[in-house]
Amino acid sequence: MFDKTDNRAAKREKLKEFYLEIKNCKSCRLGELRTNFVFGSGNSNAEILLIGEAPGKNEDIQGKPFVGQAGKLLDDLLASIGFGRNDVFIANVLKCRPPQNRDPDITEINTCKGYLFKQIEIINPLIICTMGKYSTQLILETSEIISRLRGKVFEKNGKTVIPINHPAAALYTPSRTELLREDFKRLKQIYDVKSKNRGFSGDSNAENKGTESAEPADSIAKEGFEDLNDRSMQEVNVPDDKKEQLGLF
Ligand code: URA
Repeated sequence: MFDKTDNRAAKREKLKEFYLEIKNCKSCRLGELRTNFVFGSGNSNAEILLIGEAPGKNEDIQGKPFVGQAGKLLDDLLASIGFGRNDVFIANVLKCRPPQNRDPDITEINTCKGYLFKQIEIINPLIICTMGKYSTQLILETSEIISRLRGKVFEKNGKTVIPINHPAAALYTPSRTELLREDFKRLKQIYDVKSKNRGFSGDSNAENKGTESAEPADSIAKEGFEDLNDRSMQEVNVPDDKKEQLGLF
């Protein structure tokens, strides 16, 4: 009999196997430069997956995501909604540190993104919270700027996607920290509704979990709730050459 406990253990095992499969990756030059491959960490059965940009110096040294100053702020934001690291899973677009913490380049993103997509497939979270430009644009397949996406909620491939600013960008700007606090409150509200609805299906691994059928989530998030198929997103005009350059479409 394959009950919920088996299911959870199987997921954990799958994620671990995947880690072992990719941890020695040298598919791009960052693999030669890193101290540690930063797979991500947290609960393999998490309902919320948070995605950052790439490991920085501290993450490279420790092999864990968000362990520096931005990580402290992230811990604080999670605590503000009653969550800890073990309640969520935290990953990055890139698994290895770009030198001098420079921005990820498009080749690196394209080389690495399959790892993140596989993590999403295995973890199968209800909610994906993208932190900053790189994860937001990758997951929403858009080149729209983060400031126009933050504060809205999207449905994408059966997942609720909540773009927020990157915690590092808020470190020394109290007004941005405040915005992040608001976004975490909203994340929790949406999580509460989505997870309750998912519970009604009686199957924590249901294919359709977190889909649009969960009506109350829409009403909580009414203000700013958008779907990528909405006209508002279709109106975003991305030149074809830009799309290719971004490798997102
Ligand atoms: N910034 C990120 O985007 N990821 C980390 O892991 C740390 C800082």
